Amino acid sequence: MSSDAPPGVFITFEGGEGAGKSTQIARLAEALRQASGREVVTTREPGGTERAEELRAALLRGVAKPYGPFAEALMFAAARIDHIENLIRPALARGAIVLCDRFSDSTRAYQGAAGGLAPGLIASLERVTLGDLRPDLTLILDLPPEAGLARAHSRGEGKPADRFEAEGLRFHERLRAAFRAIAAAEPERCRVIDADPGPDAVEARIREAVSAWRPDLLPQRVPAPGEGQGHAA
Ligand code: TYD
Repeated sequence: MSSDAPPGVFITFEGGEGAGKSTQIARLAEALRQASGREVVTTREPGGTERAEELRAALLRGVAKPYGPFAEALMFAAARIDHIENLIRPALARGAIVLCDRFSDSTRAYQGAAGGLAPGLIASLERVTLGDLRPDLTLILDLPPEAGLARAHSRGEGKPADRFEAEGLRFHERLRAAFRAIAAAEPERCRVIDADPGPDAVEARIREAVSAWRPDLLPQRVPAPGEGQGHAA
């Protein structure tokens, strides 16, 4: 770790199933690398480290489900603790930009709002798991659950739905409402991005949000001649 490293930047992506997070994370990572010249680390939850990926495989198979929602939340927390200590904190200390596919808002939404765990319990768990770590920016990809589930199923190419994809539409509607409520409660940290249009349009919205937030990381794109508003053919 170098003492003159710039402060690390921690950006999380959240949203329901099939919102296109992984595509968008890869695109934003490339844009940030090019524009800032800084190290960009992409990772995901549950997972991100070898041990946490083992817990991920068990969680998505539904191994923790019979133990009930609290035990399941604890298993997500166990994976998160390993991920934070061994990947996220060291990368931030090096001055990297860390882009993470899901983080603690997923626990609030999936185990809390949709899964039925009391908000106080979720908040306590978050406090002990995260310590003082918080995302600097959270991009919430928002999509009607019918569209997201259809995308997730077509992506699975005949594979059976995982533990959470298999939940009913009501569950996924509660999830969407939960993510929107998180954004409304923490507008400084969160941006809701409409994930309904195609990947290029969603990418443009994400870039806009990131450059408005930190132009030093991603300068506003200068439109090419003839491109953009007022130049429609
Ligand atoms: P994944 O295949 O990564 O889903 P997606 O592509 O939609 O991101 O699987 C992760 C699943 O785990 C997803 O259904 C959300 C769920 N999850 C929780 O329930 N709680 C959590 O804290 C996290 C991080 C994920």
